[in-house]
Amino acid sequence: MTEDTLSPVLITNNLATRFIGQKVIYHPRLTSTMALARQAARQGAAEGTVVVADEQTAGKGRLKRLWLSPRGSLALSIILYPDMSYLPYLMMLASLAVVHSIKAITGLKAQLKWPNDVLIDDKKVCGILIESDLRGNTVAYAIIGIGINTNFRLTDFPEILPHATSLADKLGKEISRVAVIRHLLVETERLYLALPDGDPIYREWRDRLVTLGRKVQVKSGETFLKGIAESVARDGSLLLRHSNGSSTKIVAGDVTLRDYK
Ligand code: BTN
Repeated sequence: MTEDTLSPVLITNNLATRFIGQKVIYHPRLTSTMALARQAARQGAAEGTVVVADEQTAGKGRLKRLWLSPRGSLALSIILYPDMSYLPYLMMLASLAVVHSIKAITGLKAQLKWPNDVLIDDKKVCGILIESDLRGNTVAYAIIGIGINTNFRLTDFPEILPHATSLADKLGKEISRVAVIRHLLVETERLYLALPDGDPIYREWRDRLVTLGRKVQVKSGETFLKGIAESVARDGSLLLRHSNGSSTKIVAGDVTLRDYK
């Protein structure tokens, strides 16, 4: 492995943000950056505090899945205290920040799969998890968790090889995770500060979804639904049109893009 050291100072040094990433909590190894970020938020961590790990032993994915996060991957969580009305936009802006950062640092063009998977050539390169704690009409805290397959080779992880890729695999060489993280933090803050008007973020997210217009199968809870992914709403939900003309609004689920019979 090439020199790809992570440290708080390498991340924060002259970072061009007002608050996101100005404070970094770094651990070489953690169960999950989400768990530590949650704890830090409950103790009143400053907005924009970032928890970063080199490796997670119990990385948390969407829908209660495990997220594989070996050494060489990028795992971070960002603590925010947003207005309630901003919550649906967090996954949109995080997805866009990842796509923009991958492009800027590697030149690779990534796509989005509803709701917030980042793909390169139809294989997952990044997963995003948003957690929030609501108290009545206010958000006690929200955490954006981002996991990017950066500097590890998928051939070492046959269990995810069919569906996943990494930046190192795509480029044939390793990249600087610090460079990706710094770009990601700047981009996340730029989009977050633009949020009083979420419309451009919603529109760019919608337009980048490879899901729309495709025949899909959606697993939502224990239910499998089939149809055409017709549109997405500003609250992030997906509208699925069935062959009998009826439709279902899907708030959380897993989309398979492969055509079905
Ligand atoms: C998904 O299921 O696609 C979401 C995966 C999110 C993984 C990231 S890695 C950093 C943060 N810490 C975690 O335990 N999960 C998120």
